[in-house]
Amino acid sequence: MKIFLFAPKHGAEAIPLPCDRSDERDMTDRLEIRESVPKDAALIERLYPNAFPDEDLSPLVRDLLSEAPIVLSLVGMADTALVGHAIFTTCGIAGRPDKVALLGPLAVAPAWQRQGIGSALVLAGLQRVETAGASRVYVLGDPAYYERFGFEPDADVTPPYPLPEAWRGAWQSLSLGGNKPRPRGKLAVPQPWRQQALWAP
Ligand SMILES: CC(C)(COP(=O)(O)OP(=O)(O)OC[C@H]1O[C@@H](n2cnc3c(N)ncnc32)[C@H](O)[C@@H]1OP(=O)(O)O)[C@@H](O)C(=O)NCCC(=O)NCCS
Repeated sequence: MKIFLFAPKHGAEAIPLPCDRSDERDMTDRLEIRESVPKDAALIERLYPNAFPDEDLSPLVRDLLSEAPIVLSLVGMADTALVGHAIFTTCGIAGRPDKVALLGPLAVAPAWQRQGIGSALVLAGLQRVETAGASRVYVLGDPAYYERFGFEPDADVTPPYPLPEAWRGAWQSLSLGGNKPRPRGKLAVPQPWRQQALWAP
């Protein structure tokens, strides 16, 4: 799956949004970030084909949403429009006591990209998973995007399936609550993430 390395798609069909885009307040003033509720599911499902026109992430997202106790699902709402979504999954490191999180997928509706929504979702999620006791967050994504949050390439914990060589730098982590030493081992993921296709082009 190529999802995490894609740059934003411009020109992709935007979700029709009921809210007034002529409002000149900064987007982040109008943005509400909250945990998703079951009735958001249909809007979340509509968001992904727009943000990822070449990938079908619906099955993964659906499976993750059904793993409520170990999944933090955040939506970005602009008035009544669902404009972004991020998932943080609680994971472990094989043979170690560490509680960590995996960030992904992350999507912002094309018409709403580059207005700080993706960043707001990531920052809100990092804060919540830290409060919930995670010591580190892992992501497979474009370093040019994730380095702004402090993510760095991580070769000490390996993803559940070997990555293609070209993706090595895209496997990153961020320490929460201070610069702790990196654990070593293999990321232990729950069932929805145990599909090799999610970790390969
Ligand atoms: C990636 C994504 C979530 C970012 O959300 P966003 O709300 O547009 O991001 P923000 O407004 O917080 O940040 C925008 C900045 O990120 C940069 N950026 C966005 N996507 C990027 C990417 N894939 N690689 C590098 N930089 C990226 C923009 O250039 C912009 O930089 P600038 O502020 O210096 O101009 C969104 O563009 C998206 O949904 N893309 C399609 C799906 C996707 O690729 N998701 C996985 C993310 S790796």
